[in-house]
Amino acid sequence: MDQKTVVVGSRLPRTDGLAKACGTTQYLDDLTIEGCWVGGTVRARVPRGRIREIRQDLSFDWSRAVLVTARDIPGLNVVSMIRDDYPALADPLVSFPTQAVALIAAPDPETLREALAAVSMDVEELPPVLTVEDSIACTQVIWGDSNVMDEYSVVSGNAEGAFASADLIVEGIYRTKHQEHVYLEPQGMAAIPREDGSLEVIGSMQCPYYVHSALVKGLGFSPEKVMVRQTETGGGFGGKEDYPSILGLHAALLALKSGRPVKMVYDRKEDLLCTTKRHPSVIRHRTGVKKDGTLVAAEIDIILDGGAFTTMSKVVLSRSILHATGCYFIPHVSVRARAVATNTPPNGAFRGFGVPQSNFAIERHMDRIAEILGMDPLDLRKKNILKNGSSFPYGQVLGEGMSAELVLDRVLEMSGYREKRRLFAEENRKNPFLRKGIGLSLGLHGGGFTGSGEEYISGSSSVRVSGGERVEVLVSSVEMGQGASTVLAMIAAETLGLDLMSVVHHVPDTSVVPNSGPTVASRTTMYVGKTVQDACISLVEQMAEKAAELEEFAGKRFSYEKGVFAAGEKDRIPFFEMAKRLASFPGILSATARYRPIPGFSWDESTYTGDAYKAYAWIANVVEVEVDMDTFEISPRKAYVSAEIGKAVSPVLASGQIEGGSLQAFGYAYLEDVGMKNGSYTTAHLNQYLIPTTLDTPDFSVDLQEVPFSGGPYGAKGLGELPMDSGAPALVAAVGHAAGVFPEGIPVTGEYLHSLLRKNKKERKAGEQ
Ligand code: MTE
Ligand code: MOS
Repeated sequence: MDQKTVVVGSRLPRTDGLAKACGTTQYLDDLTIEGCWVGGTVRARVPRGRIREIRQDLSFDWSRAVLVTARDIPGLNVVSMIRDDYPALADPLVSFPTQAVALIAAPDPETLREALAAVSMDVEELPPVLTVEDSIACTQVIWGDSNVMDEYSVVSGNAEGAFASADLIVEGIYRTKHQEHVYLEPQGMAAIPREDGSLEVIGSMQCPYYVHSALVKGLGFSPEKVMVRQTETGGGFGGKEDYPSILGLHAALLALKSGRPVKMVYDRKEDLLCTTKRHPSVIRHRTGVKKDGTLVAAEIDIILDGGAFTTMSKVVLSRSILHATGCYFIPHVSVRARAVATNTPPNGAFRGFGVPQSNFAIERHMDRIAEILGMDPLDLRKKNILKNGSSFPYGQVLGEGMSAELVLDRVLEMSGYREKRRLFAEENRKNPFLRKGIGLSLGLHGGGFTGSGEEYISGSSSVRVSGGERVEVLVSSVEMGQGASTVLAMIAAETLGLDLMSVVHHVPDTSVVPNSGPTVASRTTMYVGKTVQDACISLVEQMAEKAAELEEFAGKRFSYEKGVFAAGEKDRIPFFEMAKRLASFPGILSATARYRPIPGFSWDESTYTGDAYKAYAWIANVVEVEVDMDTFEISPRKAYVSAEIGKAVSPVLASGQIEGGSLQAFGYAYLEDVGMKNGSYTTAHLNQYLIPTTLDTPDFSVDLQEVPFSGGPYGAKGLGELPMDSGAPALVAAVGHAAGVFPEGIPVTGEYLHSLLRKNKKERKAGEQ
């Protein structure tokens, strides 16, 4: 199915690149909105409690500002997401310290600051639940009747019985902490009331229709009275999947009460302290192994810290459990996964969506098993790697694109892993102060929504010929740095046989674009791209058919190829020329296509079995680090990555995604550390929350493998989240190799590394006595 393509697969520059590089792109904060006020938030400040009273200090002149509390909400007091458990404003219960209690709008930031300082609260404090251990033990019931927000299990074979046939049982507990997205542009939304009583809400977001639904519910408006428009978005990484619904509703409430446009743009501090993060996890593995390294049975227990409300936890957890055994075949498996509530800010979507946690645990556990068996981690992986015909614990057997071994072999070739592993160990004996280490990991990511999610949302895309020689791609999918604008335009240009400059994708507006679904789950290229391709095919078909009704072509049958309608040798009409001739026929110059279920896949939600994803992307990483044994500083030096992503629509952007996502995973592994105290984040500044800079970026070698997926446009699969899933365990393994320790959690900060080395020293001493 490898088709010959011209635009798809070529190394064209991204369509939004120049404006972003030159700084001319306008983000929400750059936009001047006539008569606009600024909005701010009064927060609870206690992890758990009951609000008795909200007080307005009367020394402030309240005619200069507008205050909104839960009483002013015209619709339901919820931010509608997967579940309606998250109140837009606390009333009267407080469930986490940064929870919004009231909102204020004022004409300028100075007045807003004064007004915010003039609000106080009388809150009866209640004992909070701050850890997942306390949540499970139900020291206090803070959510539902057991604190468990969601629970899933996946069982294959008979794990309990199969443990008896194992030569040994290896156990381990692996922990990951919060991670902050650090999109370049902080969260920001604005609401603009219109004269006809409708409301326009604009801002930085991934999912215009999610925001739309939340507004309809929270405001009690009919859907056509709310219009949501994305503004240029400076990165999302999942953080703008849920939060814009909250902030959009807040801005809307202030706009309705004040009768003016209101803009709310968080500064970095408010963004770091108040917005969602990646779910912390505690994952226990218990594995039955044969002496030769064959895995026979596994019991896995996954716990995610959901924070106070569900946001996306239900689906994040689902992805965690479905990726729990990573790239390995284990015949007997029993996995239990729970998301539990704590009185901490709700955790939400973040690139990888539950997989980075699961994959860290399984990859670390493979290293532990290898260490116990005295095997090289590579040999253990090779022995158990998923192959054609292997099944996942939920029963899926892939008919195509099972590429774990392919990427592993490629990365070994690129990196010289085996020789270096031996060589570094030797060198470290000679130079024990600056040690080198090399580590390996694998990963996979199911593209698009889980199970029947794509069938359920059944997204559609449109294309239309606009004035001049332009085709517009009309979708609700957004550009947020990942390249959707370029990739979708490339797919349309390829299908229509036009050049890339003839196709545009704008920031979506819900009153103009169909619902092609949210910009999440690495689904844009693979699923939205497919409907864009289908819409383009429909467009030329209907144009060809209609052409026969034109007087000059009466009865002629047109075919279409490479941008030209042809009926015999004489009548060869280029696309835009034909569009001009057909302009008077209504509806002929636009077409819409809806998601068509891909045959051969089925998923049973009630038993959690079947084809969880239609295609998976695969990745293998080898990371080399240096560890300074005096300062405990870790420096990633080289990163080799091989990824199998189906057809790379834009190889430049695909490689960029792999590098950027890997770097984000490296930050997660050793630098990024969200501080917590009494249910609040304490890292309020980017000099406390460190992310990798260019100086921390290793030298990357990226290799793309393209095994076309028959269901994707030109064979493409999703790849945006894949690199985030698997960089961390490779880096941690490399640190372990260098320093002779076994980190079980991330981030491996200098302090953690130091404590592991001290423990080693103590154990050695104890052994000598
Ligand atoms: N890359 C950049 N530069 N900026 C982003 O915000 N988001 C990631 C990933 N890559 C992101 C990114 C996340 S969380 C997802 S789900 C995918 O892009 C979504 O885009 P796609 O569907 O086009 O892959
Ligand atoms: Mo990505 S976490 O699915 O927005």
